[in-house]
Amino acid sequence: MSRDALPDPVLHRNRRSRLLDRLGDGLLLLPTAPEVLRNGDVHYEYRPGSDFHFLTGFPEPEAVLVAWRTGKGQHRSVLFVRPRDPAREIWDGKRHGTKGAVSAFGVDEAHPIGELWQRLPKLLEGHPTLFHRLGAAAALDRRLLEVFAGQAQKHRRRQPAAHPTIQDPIPELAAMRLRKDAAEIAALQTAATITAAGHCAAMRGARPGMFEYEVQAIVEAEFRRAGSPRNGYGSIVASGPNACILHYHDNDRKMREGDLLLLDAGAEFGGNTGDVTRTFPVSGHFSPAQAAVYRVVLRAQLAGIRACRVGAPWNAAHKACLRELTRGLVELAVLRGAVPKLLGKDAFKPWYMHGTSHWLGRDVHDVGAYQDAADVAEPLPAGAVLTVEPGLYFDANDRRVPKELRGIGVRIEDDILVTRAGPGVLTAAVPKTIREVEAMCRAGRTAN
Ligand code: GLY
Ligand code: MN
Ligand code: MN
Repeated sequence: MSRDALPDPVLHRNRRSRLLDRLGDGLLLLPTAPEVLRNGDVHYEYRPGSDFHFLTGFPEPEAVLVAWRTGKGQHRSVLFVRPRDPAREIWDGKRHGTKGAVSAFGVDEAHPIGELWQRLPKLLEGHPTLFHRLGAAAALDRRLLEVFAGQAQKHRRRQPAAHPTIQDPIPELAAMRLRKDAAEIAALQTAATITAAGHCAAMRGARPGMFEYEVQAIVEAEFRRAGSPRNGYGSIVASGPNACILHYHDNDRKMREGDLLLLDAGAEFGGNTGDVTRTFPVSGHFSPAQAAVYRVVLRAQLAGIRACRVGAPWNAAHKACLRELTRGLVELAVLRGAVPKLLGKDAFKPWYMHGTSHWLGRDVHDVGAYQDAADVAEPLPAGAVLTVEPGLYFDANDRRVPKELRGIGVRIEDDILVTRAGPGVLTAAVPKTIREVEAMCRAGRTAN
């Protein structure tokens, strides 16, 4: 069975009902993610679409969910899936087929995906609205328009609309996904715990003389060993000056004595991902200059986490971090002047050029609105999960900063669950203070 199969009929039925209650009357049409060809006969690793998987737990490609509300808290759902095919299954692995879709995943009906277009007109009958986002699946959109055009031709003399109005269901779905339910929180906590184990393994295993990709292998091996089927995003393993490249992915530098290593890696579990950054010394000890930068970033991150309170603007953490980072830049003799004035002119920007937070969940940059229609920051709701990830990046050639800081890049990132009892750090198991980080690095040395 696919590692992405999450057969939990009650959970998924409830999610579909909640969504359809929010959307109102109409027919929901939601395809999963397509398979993508990488090169001659090789596909990229398949991962089900986040929305589709959230509503079904169904893992296979070439699947479409159709569902409609039949009353408050009630709906009917139909899955179109790849049919069983013993000859194909010898090559590609076992399929659930239509029977499995009903028995294991709890939809009301399932049909072969090849019957979608023949059955859809009938399913659409009586629904004035089709909930479907255009643009995600071009071939499906084309066929849909053909169906509607066909209906228009047949019904052109009738008064009622010939075809339904298309309405985008994704904003409602995103709002639902933003406030995690208990199952999503449990999956995120497990993803965070596995992510923590990977980061600890990296701290224990990294040594001067290793290539960055060797540390990547250590982290990702621990993720797999602990039960994560894949990473939530490509690991950033950035040593020395590479830490200043925000989306560094080459991971091919040989690490040297005295380097810091910025590791941004997250394990996926139950469709959700962790997103953690730690920056640690490959030789086991921070230099005084590295420690000075690290302390500033850590102070900012702790202030950011404290700001993640129910009802606060979602970017309160960013504001708190900016204050601490600016104070720290003055202490590090990078900036001169009064902190409020420096903040007013974004004086930190050359060394802190990214945001502090994003929603986290099934997508590492998860769905959910940040601003309302008037551009006002949304308040943090209980059940939202977001990252807090301040950093400071001093390029090796930056003559504006004291010499000893050049080439130092530090980011610290944790995953925060917003609760009425205050911010919950899902990734608290990853060492973070200088003392904890150095102790974890030393644990690797005494073990070998
Ligand atoms: N790992 C991607 C990010 O931190 O946003
Ligand atoms: Mn992040
Ligand atoms: Mn990250």
